[in-house]
Amino acid sequence: TKKPRIEFVCSDCGGTTAKWQGQCPHCKAWNTLQEFTVAEGAAARYGSGRPAPKGFVDTTGALQDLADVSTDEAPRILTGLSEFDRVMGGGLVRGGVALIGGDPGIGKSTILLQVMARLKQLGVSALYVSGEESASQIAIRAQRLQIDPHGLQLMSEIELEQIEAVLSEKKPEFVVIDSIQTLFSGQLDSAPGSVSQVRECAARLTRIAKSHGITLVFVGHVTKDGALAGPRILEHIVDTVLYFEGDTHSNFRLIRAFKNRFGAVNELGVFAMTDHGLRGVTNPSAIFLSEYKSNIPGSTVLVTQEGTRPLLVEIQALVDESHSPAPRRLAVGIDAQRLSMLLAVLHRHAGVACFDQDVFINAVGGVKISETAADLAVLAAIYSSIRNKALSKGLVVFGEVGLAGEIRPAPRGQERLREAAKLGFSKAVIPRANAPKTPIEGLRVVAVDRLADALRAVL
Ligand code: TYD
Ligand code: MG
Repeated sequence: TKKPRIEFVCSDCGGTTAKWQGQCPHCKAWNTLQEFTVAEGAAARYGSGRPAPKGFVDTTGALQDLADVSTDEAPRILTGLSEFDRVMGGGLVRGGVALIGGDPGIGKSTILLQVMARLKQLGVSALYVSGEESASQIAIRAQRLQIDPHGLQLMSEIELEQIEAVLSEKKPEFVVIDSIQTLFSGQLDSAPGSVSQVRECAARLTRIAKSHGITLVFVGHVTKDGALAGPRILEHIVDTVLYFEGDTHSNFRLIRAFKNRFGAVNELGVFAMTDHGLRGVTNPSAIFLSEYKSNIPGSTVLVTQEGTRPLLVEIQALVDESHSPAPRRLAVGIDAQRLSMLLAVLHRHAGVACFDQDVFINAVGGVKISETAADLAVLAAIYSSIRNKALSKGLVVFGEVGLAGEIRPAPRGQERLREAAKLGFSKAVIPRANAPKTPIEGLRVVAVDRLADALRAVL
């Protein structure tokens, strides 16, 4: 018989090499390459010329003129869980494959069971494949969610070949795999959850989903930092990557789209965990403001734009005298490297020094802010803490701060301002280029060019 082919797969980026190396040649991570026995015929399977149905990745190998390609949007299924439909980019796509990641206990299984119950009401056939929980545990969850269990199909299975057989035969329209780490293929000798198993199982199920038009959702246990090897490599295979984020201590749960071939990236779905599962929060723009009504030093309100909708998030700073030769810089929900850069700009262009101070920054409610339009809010909060003086009442800010101390515009400034006005904010300090042409009722806009001007305006 033929000797099985060996390759080495990076557990960080999923890149492959033929020979073992200390460093991954693709992403340059060290000691991440793991041995991977390529299954008999696996290479052939990936590229087999089976035609995909209309609208999906076509692997016939035939040439066609781009002008002849149909531009019809793939049909969507709206689950009616509007926050879920929103992060999916406007409902489920036939043949679309998604990965939902997040910490254990954050609500992945819960939301997917809720989605299934909705689909059943719409007459969409669905199958829940569980390799993690027993059937009775899932039945108990359904009871708790007050879902009618009749007609919800369940399969307790972890062997890939069995699942493949059932999907090919029954062709359910929606399938949940909970979780991808529990599956294994009998054709590989590595353990479930290993990089090679996760990759092989996901790739093969994805192919079946595409060829039968099945909407497939993988559950993956992983934090955004990719603490668990495996699911990161799925990001390349799937169409949509969703991560749960948010504070497990609060009742709010956020689902963010990190990648979406079918919708806006960074789209955020906001839910509240209740006794009967996750409920969409349809008007979430104010939930990330802290309870304090009176203004306190070190706090500012940022209007951020997550996906297609503005959100108001309180940014808190604490600046305190440091007793260490290397003062601490700690950022929760904000990029820590960016914080160091902003502190340098603050010193150089506004004359405010923090070299002997510890600086802590927190975005309230566990929300993670990735956009640079948060810069000005971070510096305003720090400035307020240093001066021990509350910022103006009813103030919101946004804007990027450049290395030259200039305040740069943020995308969708008008929308941000209108949302702030709607929530009763009365003053906005924003980049000059975002100044509205027509006044917004109830909102006094201060447009600034330089950091020093901005800091004068916020107090
Ligand atoms: P679960 O969905 O099982 O999380 P995951 O699949 O991501 O590991 O559980 C979510 C948590 O929410 C669990 O700790 C119990 C709790 N919960 C509720 O508060 N209300 C509910 O209706 C349900 C079903 C769970
Ligand atoms: Mg679960």
